[in-house]
Amino acid sequence: DKGQHRHFMAKEIHEQPTVLARALGAWTSSDRNRITSDAEHIDWSAVSRLSIVACGTAYLAGHVAKIWLEQIARLPVELEIASEFRYREPPLPRDGVTMVISQSGETADTLAALRYAKAQGQQTLGLVNVTTSTIAREADVVLPIHAGPEIGVASTKAFTAQLMCIALLAFMIARKRGVIGPDAETTAIDVLSTIPRILSEVLAQENDFAALAAQISDATSVLFLGRGMMYPLALEGALKLKEITYIHAEGYAAGEIKHGPIALVDEHTPIIALAPSGPLLEKSLSNLREVIARNGRVAIIGDAAACQVFGNEAWHCLAIPHVDPLVAPFAYAVAIQFLAYHTALCRGTDVDQPRNLAKSVTVE
Ligand code: F6R
Repeated sequence: DKGQHRHFMAKEIHEQPTVLARALGAWTSSDRNRITSDAEHIDWSAVSRLSIVACGTAYLAGHVAKIWLEQIARLPVELEIASEFRYREPPLPRDGVTMVISQSGETADTLAALRYAKAQGQQTLGLVNVTTSTIAREADVVLPIHAGPEIGVASTKAFTAQLMCIALLAFMIARKRGVIGPDAETTAIDVLSTIPRILSEVLAQENDFAALAAQISDATSVLFLGRGMMYPLALEGALKLKEITYIHAEGYAAGEIKHGPIALVDEHTPIIALAPSGPLLEKSLSNLREVIARNGRVAIIGDAAACQVFGNEAWHCLAIPHVDPLVAPFAYAVAIQFLAYHTALCRGTDVDQPRNLAKSVTVE
């Protein structure tokens, strides 16, 4: 049931505050002081490396996971696309753990990667939405994301629910590895508790995204740029746009564009820069100036501070609330979802069932 929405994708975008509050509730103690998860039973201080394997949007959640687990829990993470991992047959350390991420829990390559890791003697975690799925049955530890059924082929609420559970997992593992104390864990839960409210604020800006979408809907190619945490979000922005609008799109680490992609820059190619204020903003801005100097049409999605710095140089500036770095991936996820959704509306494409795509990819 789509409720008052035109598409399942719209419904699922708007559901995110509820979904994330539910996931946070399910992963924390009733006094909200402690993260609780079945992954606690692993001796994380003895784990030398976590391998994360997934496909598509779930892989991009894994990219965020790598950054958080390395920064917050100081745990080395190897990240790989399932279809490459399974045939590469990498050696896995005896004291390693493998986590597969899958909304459906049925993706053939991800399942094969899980089976490979198990056969190599790894402990395995399955971060899934569908808890009756094959991956949920076969993983040693099942970590449910509590997103509820996701009908739209383009993943939205499952992505942010994966991020919520991954953030909590990172702080739980940090505690188990003695990297943080109990206060830091409680503070993290407090920060993550603000996400439903902040996402409601971004959701209320839907018309701003529709206006930007109208301006990119005639493009034949769009570039998404981001640094640090915004790099995987740029990749996800490009993936969402390709999937439901059929516009060619690429995501790049902003610092990488001078190594090739800057050759694509002209006045016809919109460049969406995800640029929240923070330690990397100055770096991002200098990358963007290089693009603007070559007549690039740069649209900044940032906070008020970022838009103030760039306001009159950029082609378009869309300010969303200033947020804690831990919250930024969630807020910018909604931004790129809206951008793809409204661009699809402008182009009249089938949002919920894009051509050539299936919700669950059970073939290799
Ligand atoms: C993108 C999308 C796909 C899936 C991918 C993995 O919007 O939906 O890229 O993320 O096929 O699917 P799951 O998570 O079910 O393994």
